[in-house]
Amino acid sequence: MHTHVLATSLAALAATSCAGVRAVSQPAAVAAVKPADAPAPPQEPPAPEAESLNTEYCLGSCAEEQRRFALFAEQIQALQTKQTSSRGQPVQRGFHGKAHGCAYGTFELKADRDARVRFGVFADGQGPWPVWVRFSNGVGWRQADDELDARGMAVKLMGVTGPRSMQDEKATQEFLMTNAPTPVGRNAEEFMVFAHENEKGRVSGLLFAAGHPNTAAPALLKTDPIPSAATAQYWGGGAFHLGAHQAVKFTSKPCAGTAERKPLDRKDPDYLRKDLQAAAAAGMCFSFYVQFQADPERTPIEHASREWKEQDAPPVHVGDLRLPPQDITGERREQFCEKLSYNPWHGLTAHQPMGHINRARRFVYDASRAGRSGGYEPTGFEGFDAPAAPRP
Ligand code: HEM
Repeated sequence: MHTHVLATSLAALAATSCAGVRAVSQPAAVAAVKPADAPAPPQEPPAPEAESLNTEYCLGSCAEEQRRFALFAEQIQALQTKQTSSRGQPVQRGFHGKAHGCAYGTFELKADRDARVRFGVFADGQGPWPVWVRFSNGVGWRQADDELDARGMAVKLMGVTGPRSMQDEKATQEFLMTNAPTPVGRNAEEFMVFAHENEKGRVSGLLFAAGHPNTAAPALLKTDPIPSAATAQYWGGGAFHLGAHQAVKFTSKPCAGTAERKPLDRKDPDYLRKDLQAAAAAGMCFSFYVQFQADPERTPIEHASREWKEQDAPPVHVGDLRLPPQDITGERREQFCEKLSYNPWHGLTAHQPMGHINRARRFVYDASRAGRSGGYEPTGFEGFDAPAAPRP
């Protein structure tokens, strides 16, 4: 079904594409997309402003898109410096600068998981995977936890081998999520305008939301302070391959039975960090789901701010992230947490990011990592107070 949706649209797109794009007869293209194939690169759009609904093609043209992404990378490095120096802080991540903490654990795949999810790190014979999970606020500077902001959860699986999208890390697969089902902006062009406005302060950010009621406001309305990072739901925002033939989005929710957490005093600027430390001491658990693309209208790929609703694309339970009781405090843990680098392009081509907003991220995350001299690839639990990491 999903194979059919993605492949059919590829064929239809190729058939209507502009000069220079190979004309493909529909049946041949449908047959051509196989799970183990390398995902196809985005195609030239049939017209410069055309927007694909359910498969990938470049914005403007592929050459123009690459030029814009290189510019975004430069802009992120400039923002990194500007937004921290103006607040008297050291340069940090371009976004998600403030960590609440990093916790180790294991990603266990459900034994009876749906056959459609068994690709990449979810394939038969894979896992359990050792992981490091970083919890964060959204902006690229440190501010009090009760400010309006997105909250992030970034998951790094280790020991992952196979064809990779980027080579700067050797054996990781990462899933980056925030606590809103859609990102700010239908694509990275809009996101970057927001990034500049938001740096100027809350009023500019809110004005941007008001001017973009369909593509930014839904995400920005989810930026109220949360009671706890350990009991939030997080979403991956853009679409991703699951094998070359399928498109999915992913989300994680607290495991069934997770107790609600009583909010700490929100006047404490680090109440989320303190709450996470207490939650980690007791152990945390998140269930991880994928949503399969249903159809071009309700579950588009290029238009990132159209939410894939659960009634259209029901979440399919893949496995659980179990973070055992641990002490996440201390200087060594914090330094380790800071130097990690998460990137949606760190991973197998079987999970390759899709859509304009995700294609831009290949450029800007690496620029941000370089701009803060970050980037350290862990290979296990690194001698923190953990049992030996499971061997995948
Ligand atoms: C599509 C939805 C998106 C989600 C779910 C998301 C999520 C995240 C998360 C969770 C982190 C923190 C990673 C960590 O803990 O180290 C992060 C970092 C970052 N994000 Fe995003 N993000 C999204 C879109 C974007 C876009 C569109 C851009 C820019 C065009 C962007 C730029 C960045 C940068 C520069 C960092 C810091 C990277 C580093 O220095 O390591 N993000 N993002």
